[in-house]
Amino acid sequence: MAQNIAIDGPSASGKSTVSKGVAQALGFVYVDSGAFYRGVTWHALRQNADPNNAEAVLESMHDADWDFFIKDGAVFFSVNGVVPVQELREKEVREAVALVAAIPEVRKFVVETLQSLENFGSLVMEGRDIGTVVFPDTPFKFYLDADPEERAKRRYRELVAAGENEKAEEVMKSLQQRDQIDSTRKTAPLSVAPGAQVVDTTNMTLDEVIETIVKAIKEFA
Ligand code: CDP
Ligand code: CDP
Repeated sequence: MAQNIAIDGPSASGKSTVSKGVAQALGFVYVDSGAFYRGVTWHALRQNADPNNAEAVLESMHDADWDFFIKDGAVFFSVNGVVPVQELREKEVREAVALVAAIPEVRKFVVETLQSLENFGSLVMEGRDIGTVVFPDTPFKFYLDADPEERAKRRYRELVAAGENEKAEEVMKSLQQRDQIDSTRKTAPLSVAPGAQVVDTTNMTLDEVIETIVKAIKEFA
């Protein structure tokens, strides 16, 4: 039977990197749910829809042709035949995604899509509401956390490495803004799912976090 591993947490808590490592260790398919919210946002911006205008965002989302497929052990998608990857990380998308992800109908569309990915096999899915909304019945739930200063530092290092020259204070401010929108929105706010194992990664290396999760899954299974 297919198993689903839910990994939730705030921005830069290590979800993406850790989830990829766990998926590789277990031979499961990796799913970045945030990429779909970013995809809806990217497509809306490309169609000149204002991210504050829910109706315009929904129209662009429903009019598009979405297709999901596996490549190198991870799920990807195309929108009207185009596969966005780097585009999803752009500043415009980063700044608008929490607004778009707060629109209930956007969440309904993305959640139903994420649930249907079970057809691809056992999944390691990372996001904000995987243990609470997408797969509430899975026994494998983890919540990664880290101090806000440490998370801002991680994101800053990443942006510098990618050649972006945002200021450290700006990164901290934008991370806090996104945390605030994500944890206070009405629909599926970021929260620790009942039964989730909380892992504070502030002083842990990536390998230590991956090992902790893989061990917990093996002990349970
Ligand atoms: O990489 P980072 O943790 O900064 O963000 P992400 O996982 O790519 O998610 C981008 C945004 O999508 C988040 O800030 C949330 O607003 C939204 N999101 C969500 O609402 N629910 C999820 N399951 C995943 C992402
Ligand atoms: O997906 P999420 O936004 O939660 O975080 P990520 O993209 O996996 O991690 C953000 C950055 O922090 C990456 O560059 C990781 O390599 C780094 N990181 C770290 O140095 N130590 C950790 N324990 C976790 C993440």
